Amino acid sequence: MSAIHPINLTTWGGDISAAEQGVATDALEAGHVLFLPGLLFELSDRERAFLTPELVGKSKNVSYHPKSGKLGGANVAAIKIHDLRALMERFATATRALLTTLLPSYGDGLHQAKTSLRPVEVSGRQQTWRKDDTRLHVDSFPSQPSSGKRILRVFTNVNPDGRARVWKVGETFETVARQFWPKLRAPLPGERGLLAAVRVTKAVRTRYDHYMLKLHDAMKLDPEYQARFAASTHPFPAGSTWVCFTDQVSHAAVSGAHQLEQTFWVEVRAMRNPNSAPLRILESLAGRKLA
Ligand SMILES: [Fe+2]
Repeated sequence: MSAIHPINLTTWGGDISAAEQGVATDALEAGHVLFLPGLLFELSDRERAFLTPELVGKSKNVSYHPKSGKLGGANVAAIKIHDLRALMERFATATRALLTTLLPSYGDGLHQAKTSLRPVEVSGRQQTWRKDDTRLHVDSFPSQPSSGKRILRVFTNVNPDGRARVWKVGETFETVARQFWPKLRAPLPGERGLLAAVRVTKAVRTRYDHYMLKLHDAMKLDPEYQARFAASTHPFPAGSTWVCFTDQVSHAAVSGAHQLEQTFWVEVRAMRNPNSAPLRILESLAGRKLA
């Protein structure tokens, strides 16, 4: 079972000892969720006005790319775009400071990716099974191959009404992978090259990305697996923050609205225990290199 590992930190760039940094990094790599119950991301009154589903219209979230400053998915008047971008940039900066504090050993193996604001209630939303994140899954991006790099995410619940964001958390990656591996079909000859040629993927999907997507799908499509963890819920209260490798932790978002989320890539070579990476675990099951 993946565990929730509490950390007592109340500032985004605060001081923690080298011993605590090591414990946090090891817990994260073991597939635990780092839970920072007192790490609040404060919003101004003007920013709180963004916390409405109308902000995104038909899309699920506002997305922001810290490197380019590009903002997407927002359905707001031009006059408010500046404020929204400033909010996203402030969160991107805060999460970068947090991970530098918490996980300094990742150094230049840590790369910041997309920032998201999710203002829509999770429960009761109509979704295809593949996009239904109320079902337990591990993260894998269909169009953006990771080539083995880890997906590390920082989440903050900014619900203004004090509502928790509720997750389900399943068992360890190794257990999930062993259970589903026999059911995951191998890539067809030419399949991965074709997907890149017709631009379904931004680069050629590695065998690793192929199997991760198949695992994501197999988990979501297995009603017995879903039922087994129906009661394994954990509430993340408003004003709290949590961090985990979402390519490793079997997770589902059951309910809640108004969350900020920051994605990072982590290179396997930068990990303290690279053997705990999904890449290494799937490679040991496949008996060959996958990326
Ligand atoms: Fe997910």
